[in-house]
Amino acid sequence: MLLLLRRVATLRGARGLAGAPARRLSGAARRHEKKGLGEESTLRPLYMDVQATTPLDPRVLDSMLPYLMHYYGNPHSRTHAYGWESESAMERARQQVASLIGADPREIIFTSGATESNNLAIKGVARFYKSRKKHIITTQTEHKCVLDSCRYLEAEGFRVTYLPVKRNGLIDLKELEDALQPDTSLVSIMTVNNEIGVKQPISDIGQICSSRKVFFHTDAAQAVGKIPMDVNDMKIDLMSISGHKIYGPKGVGAIYIRRRPRVRLEPLQSGGGQERGMRSGTVPTPLAVGLGAACEVSQQEMEYDYKRISVLADRLITKIMTEIPDVVMNGDPEHHYPDTLFLNYAGCINLSFAYVEGESLLMALKDVALSSGSACTSASLEPSYVLRAIGTDEDLAHSSIRFGIGRFTTEEEVDYTVQKCIQHVKRLREMRFEPPGQQNPPLTLATTSSQVTGSTYGTIIENTPWNPGGRVLIRYCLLPRQLLNYLALQRGYMLRSVRRHPPR
Ligand SMILES: Cc1ncc(COP(=O)(O)O)c(C=O)c1O
Repeated sequence: MLLLLRRVATLRGARGLAGAPARRLSGAARRHEKKGLGEESTLRPLYMDVQATTPLDPRVLDSMLPYLMHYYGNPHSRTHAYGWESESAMERARQQVASLIGADPREIIFTSGATESNNLAIKGVARFYKSRKKHIITTQTEHKCVLDSCRYLEAEGFRVTYLPVKRNGLIDLKELEDALQPDTSLVSIMTVNNEIGVKQPISDIGQICSSRKVFFHTDAAQAVGKIPMDVNDMKIDLMSISGHKIYGPKGVGAIYIRRRPRVRLEPLQSGGGQERGMRSGTVPTPLAVGLGAACEVSQQEMEYDYKRISVLADRLITKIMTEIPDVVMNGDPEHHYPDTLFLNYAGCINLSFAYVEGESLLMALKDVALSSGSACTSASLEPSYVLRAIGTDEDLAHSSIRFGIGRFTTEEEVDYTVQKCIQHVKRLREMRFEPPGQQNPPLTLATTSSQVTGSTYGTIIENTPWNPGGRVLIRYCLLPRQLLNYLALQRGYMLRSVRRHPPR
């Protein structure tokens, strides 16, 4: 225990070291270093992917430690002190979560994360009211777990309207009003988008839903703890929260379910009836305590974090956009500048670098942990559906990178990322091969699977007017898309489109 606490103290100390460059820089810095007998540590890239997950705040870890070791009782045990201790910690955590969003603690149900909360809200409400209401409204740019829950319901006979978004990523409120039908039970619209960072007009949506007596659910995984959210002011009936997006532990989240007027839902799982019967299963006390602490810290630090993150985001955007031409900011550029009214969320910046393959840039920026979008879909060959929904063309969608700035991001880290980004975008653009008098020929990546080995084969084909069948440029097996891109770039080509061949 002492050892662990000392480690936390060291972690805290380390935060004070601006940038800690030795941990972050140069290719050599990424090699494995032998530390002692059988002990190996890796010098890792700096972290700029806070939309995927956030590091644990040391204060959160502090609060969890006693419940991982000493207070191990089942919080649902009613007959002894072990149970009571855990129960009181769990109830304190419930209060901390409720306080952050202006709710009553009895309206907070612990879950395993926002995926579960979203499933519970959407499937639970739809199924409970299905005898009278069979219609749901959501948007095209929701997180996969919302879209998949809706698809699931469609297969059960529900109708779902997927609202389009405007070029800036925001919905048109008039379209929402027009989409409401007499049998609409639920509107589910996320607060802050996890790929482009735009914030929907939640209060206006809440107002529309309440005046039409339709329940309003918001996936606030990327918003809670970062911008003020008040379920009563915003007329929200259900809200999803995730622990690991707010410097809390992974594997825990919560759902807010309004009591007045009461929202009813069908639980997803059967069991001991914990959490008011809405989520059976033992509440993991240390994780719930961690979520509560993360909410409390976020509430205390929100204003400070918000200002700091806004300034750092502005620094990153301004430097990149002034140094590199043909960079497009995806989302709503107006909403990325620091303001004091918490109107926007600045920490999620999505930029498209024209003429550069996003995957190649990600590979070149190996000292920085970045992503091209949602962690859930980052293995897919398809361009982001969120970028497609805002009208980004396929080439630009393939050239986008998401920069995530969070509570622990330093100015030095931002400057380092910017400097490397400028250097590599320029280099990759220079590498593009333009045959005299004609455009860079598009390349197609064709993938096939072998029935014998089950392996996937990747082939890069040059498609040119004088070579309509496509000349095979590179043929490799078991290649991820990034590597194919990289090889194509080395040969002076840019990968434009992807064609999938059915398995032979
Ligand atoms: C907007 C949004 N909703 C839901 C989720 C899923 O959250 P969790 O990992 O807690 O299940 C995420 C995480 O990627 C997210 O960004």
